[in-house]
Amino acid sequence: MSEFEMEEIALQLVATSKGILAADESTGTIKKRLESINVECTEETRRDYRELLFTSEGISDYISGVILYDETLRQSSKDGQRLAEILSAQGIIPGIKVDMGAKGLAYSEGELITEGLDGLRERLAEYHDLGARFAKWRAVISIGNGVPSQYCIETNAHALARYAALCQEANIVPIVEPEVLMDGSHSIDECYAVTETVLKTVFDELYKQRVVLEQMLLKPNMVISGKECLAQADTEEVAAKTLYCFEQTVPAAVPGIVFLSGGQSESQATENLNTLNETGSHPWEISYSFGRALQSSALKAWGGKKENVAAAQAAFIQRARLTSVARDGKYSPDMESTS
Ligand code: 13P
Repeated sequence: MSEFEMEEIALQLVATSKGILAADESTGTIKKRLESINVECTEETRRDYRELLFTSEGISDYISGVILYDETLRQSSKDGQRLAEILSAQGIIPGIKVDMGAKGLAYSEGELITEGLDGLRERLAEYHDLGARFAKWRAVISIGNGVPSQYCIETNAHALARYAALCQEANIVPIVEPEVLMDGSHSIDECYAVTETVLKTVFDELYKQRVVLEQMLLKPNMVISGKECLAQADTEEVAAKTLYCFEQTVPAAVPGIVFLSGGQSESQATENLNTLNETGSHPWEISYSFGRALQSSALKAWGGKKENVAAAQAAFIQRARLTSVARDGKYSPDMESTS
């Protein structure tokens, strides 16, 4: 694949009206999701749930790419077709989560460092053979009692840049995800300050490690109040502060910013995405790479029962459609009840 094709893939992932479905929950995380609907977590139930999502009629109108977990990239549907091929056949680009999770950061209690660099070059070559054309690595930064430390921000930024450079070497478009968590009682301004420092540090490392900005996507948090903060910022403030923060930190050469939902409700994430797209002009595409905010209703509607598959697919498509409308800045909250 040429450099040009990597740029093309990055642009396709943020095409008008489209965004990314994050369905790359690790086995531990998907277990929690399935247990929340009283479904036992087995290789088969994980497959059934993801097959349901990927075969929802009309998915390719709203979803440009899907981030998969290692197991899913190798898995086949009930009828024996590879799940990755079910996506490619619909023009949806398969992606792969390649980090090995966030572990305790030595000498910094309560902070995390994302692991997974050892052997990554070899794993990327295999993932490319299996059809993955983009990848994801998530770094996790918490706000609270004296954290984050600059040490935590720098070590995570360094690892993100090492991952991104290895991806580009393997002709895989890296999604660089430094997530500042919503957990806690911090204000939106504290989130702003931390997000700004994190993004400055990340782009400094990407530059030092020669990552080509045109061939990557950024997957950040929105600048938003902590979940337990008493004074919750409204959607206008979230959009204004998020855009201002990114104008200060994200080079215009980056083709797209694809937000994570980070524990916002489906409607809150959709409304904020819409306000971001409605507000002014910006040099990057602004789209989505939601996990929970695209899946929560579908997961509940399914409940692990065959007879609910059609209802779950309808719920998923309804959510994907509203998110796509918001990605184009044409959503209003009353569409939640009328559509
Ligand atoms: P959420 O949208 O549920 O935060 O998940 C996105 C994701 O991929 C986190 O890494």
